[in-house]
Amino acid sequence: MNPSGALRAYLYADPAAHSRSPALHRAAFAHAGLPGEYTALRVPAPDLPAALARLRTPGTLGANLSLPHKEAALPWLDELSDAARAVGAVNTVIHRGGRLIGENTDAPGLLAALHGLGVGAAGDRAVAGPVVVLGAGGAARAAVYTALILMKRDVLIVNRTRVRAEELAASWAQAEAGAEVRAADLAAVPWPQVRLIVNASSAGLDAPGQTPLPGFDFSALAPGALVYDMVYSPRETRLLQDARAAGVRAENGLGMLAHQARLAFRAWTGVDVPAGALLAALEEA
Ligand SMILES: NC(=O)c1ccc[n+]([C@@H]2O[C@H](COP(=O)([O-])OP(=O)(O)OC[C@H]3O[C@@H](n4cnc5c(N)ncnc54)[C@H](OP(=O)(O)O)[C@@H]3O)[C@@H](O)[C@H]2O)c1
Repeated sequence: MNPSGALRAYLYADPAAHSRSPALHRAAFAHAGLPGEYTALRVPAPDLPAALARLRTPGTLGANLSLPHKEAALPWLDELSDAARAVGAVNTVIHRGGRLIGENTDAPGLLAALHGLGVGAAGDRAVAGPVVVLGAGGAARAAVYTALILMKRDVLIVNRTRVRAEELAASWAQAEAGAEVRAADLAAVPWPQVRLIVNASSAGLDAPGQTPLPGFDFSALAPGALVYDMVYSPRETRLLQDARAAGVRAENGLGMLAHQARLAFRAWTGVDVPAGALLAALEEA
């Protein structure tokens, strides 16, 4: 611990002011009964190496990283988890005895959220078609890792800019997954086989009328399908509204947000705080 006796953790991002991470991690410290302080700091890109070096201080648990640091941090860390290496992004830095370990809890956070909704459990591959991932940025990379590597499901990447979907798919060509990933146009997706769509695009983010699937016929999906929207602001995106209007189950990204924080906090402290406690903190915030 540092001289004040508190364990310290940070968010490094730019901008950092509107993050929900402080509410989540302060709730986690309170629930765990640990003396901890979580501070969101605006760290401009050129300051990242020095900010990371400060995490080696005794009493410092680590930091969450958000835009624009998730990929830029990699060379400055001593070690990477399998997930961080495969996704190529770090959202959680863990400080252990002067060493910095890069972890990615977005992917297992998504998996945990899906499991909580009864989707993606081992053994449902036989009856499950491909997972459709919308988007081709960092969140889509985490979603592909979740579906392809953690769930062992075939993945179809659909993105506004087709070439980016192709690049993302190609980057997994060497992965020993036992399943396949490829880019697809909307018209080429075998929708009646699809039971899971993950929106990992930023379509709809702070844009209530915007959807990545305008005019889409949700009734074409397999029975029991789930539309999971990583976007959680607004809570009810147009995508969720359209899916539900067609009788399709749809959930926003708050569960993933809570689980990625839970997993980061567990990596730092060893304490597994229930995701429900973190979701309640989000409600209050
Ligand atoms: N719930 C969570 O815990 C969680 C965690 C991580 C991220 N997220 C969310 O995931 C989203 C994506 O994050 P990111 O870091 O991957 O962003 P990013 O790297 O900027 O990628 C954005 C992606 O969205 C696509 N896109 C943007 N506007 C679009 C539109 N109007 N219609 C269709 N596609 C559009 C882009 O397509 P182009 O290639 O054509 O530009 C690109 O593929 C954000 O909303 C973020 O908040 C949520």
